[in-house]
Amino acid sequence: MANKIVLAYSGGLDTTVAVRWLTQTRGFEVIALTVDLGSQPKLDAIRERALAAGAVRAYVLDARKPFVERFCWPALKAGALYQGQYPLATALGRPLIAQILVEVAAREGATWVGHGSTGKGNDQVRFEVAVAALGPQLKVLAPLRDGMAMTREQEIAYAHAHHLPIEVKPESPYSVDENLWGRSIEAGALEDALLKPPEDAFVWTSSVDNAPATASVVELSFEAGVPTGMDGVELAPLALVEELNRLGGLHGVGRIDMIEDRFVGIKSREIYEAPAAVILHAAHRALEELVLDAEAARFKTSVAAEYARLVYQGKWFTSHRRDLDAYVESTQRAATGQVRLKLHKGSAQVIGRSSPYSLYRPQLATYSAGDEFDHQAAVGFIKLVGLPVRTQAQVQGAAATEPLLEDDRHVVEVGPGAFEGGLAEPVLAPAVPGVVDTDLRR
Ligand code: ARG
Repeated sequence: MANKIVLAYSGGLDTTVAVRWLTQTRGFEVIALTVDLGSQPKLDAIRERALAAGAVRAYVLDARKPFVERFCWPALKAGALYQGQYPLATALGRPLIAQILVEVAAREGATWVGHGSTGKGNDQVRFEVAVAALGPQLKVLAPLRDGMAMTREQEIAYAHAHHLPIEVKPESPYSVDENLWGRSIEAGALEDALLKPPEDAFVWTSSVDNAPATASVVELSFEAGVPTGMDGVELAPLALVEELNRLGGLHGVGRIDMIEDRFVGIKSREIYEAPAAVILHAAHRALEELVLDAEAARFKTSVAAEYARLVYQGKWFTSHRRDLDAYVESTQRAATGQVRLKLHKGSAQVIGRSSPYSLYRPQLATYSAGDEFDHQAAVGFIKLVGLPVRTQAQVQGAAATEPLLEDDRHVVEVGPGAFEGGLAEPVLAPAVPGVVDTDLRR
């Protein structure tokens, strides 16, 4: 009996050829699996193509809702942006696809799973590490990396020779992966890191020049860190992300151009369009500024970086992620409220926020009447903050620094009566304005 393999099938040229190659050259029974994460695949046509290419069965699944709720929302709550920028669309999609691969393999009694990644990127790592976590008994084959080795021209010739129903579209100038959380664009002309990304790389977002002159203001609602609505209207997760992709895209929000450190050790030039993710991260961050105490806010940035690295490196199904999730979830207790943003000419600017759990107290912050802050308490506070510093300076010598006033040309002697109020002592004009402490005698 032939071995069964469940292949992650996009419907594109590579994986269509792979279906036949796995059948013919490797003797597999191929079960194709196509997962919709929001890239608007034509699922029926893809299913037909998989079967026509020789798959014994073709699964197509709409996983958009679990993708947003179980993958995007946790990453948003964590503040996970790889290298502080990339909202991780592709990286979050892979473990979900891997999970369904494993589940279909169990249902079909397959001992193998396969995917269409090459040997150069992060995606192979993400698929295979996730499979290792969920189905450690499974074997993995990546045809494009493990033996199929055809150029695009060879794939087209192979498809024709085997009467595979491929759509030979003009070759895309870029390598693209997209889902609801963003569109990842790489390769082609973009490999010139100095080149401004050509406008044809962008599909979801307007250029700043073409974006409307008039801004849109949106008010986003969050409950315990989860986005729940817009402009006072409750919205399901999927609808909210789709609407923010549309509106943000219209205003040119969410374009990212970065040099990315791939897990496999390569630096690569990456372009992203992620309007909803960029807007939601900005809004969520603004809400946390309001409701997290300073200690948590500071520590959480380290957790965010760790979480982003872990997701990027394909370690979604790990105990480490679960543990970080538990921390993140706990920080979100008070992350309930509204954030208002202005979307205009490529930027999503926070212009207001409110929360029933806000730690911002106007009566403490104000410089106007009604100030309840105890100014005199500051004296003792500074004394104690300065205590170890002063002690060290007294015992071990003053802090090492280059003198600022060594050059006499900067020293201005001012004689008595030079100022209106009359100064008895000569005073020194600071060489660098603002650097000299008023209390240099201590
Ligand atoms: N560099 C991004 C990542 O590692 C995007 C990868 C996109 N994949 C693709 N086939 N274009 O997450």
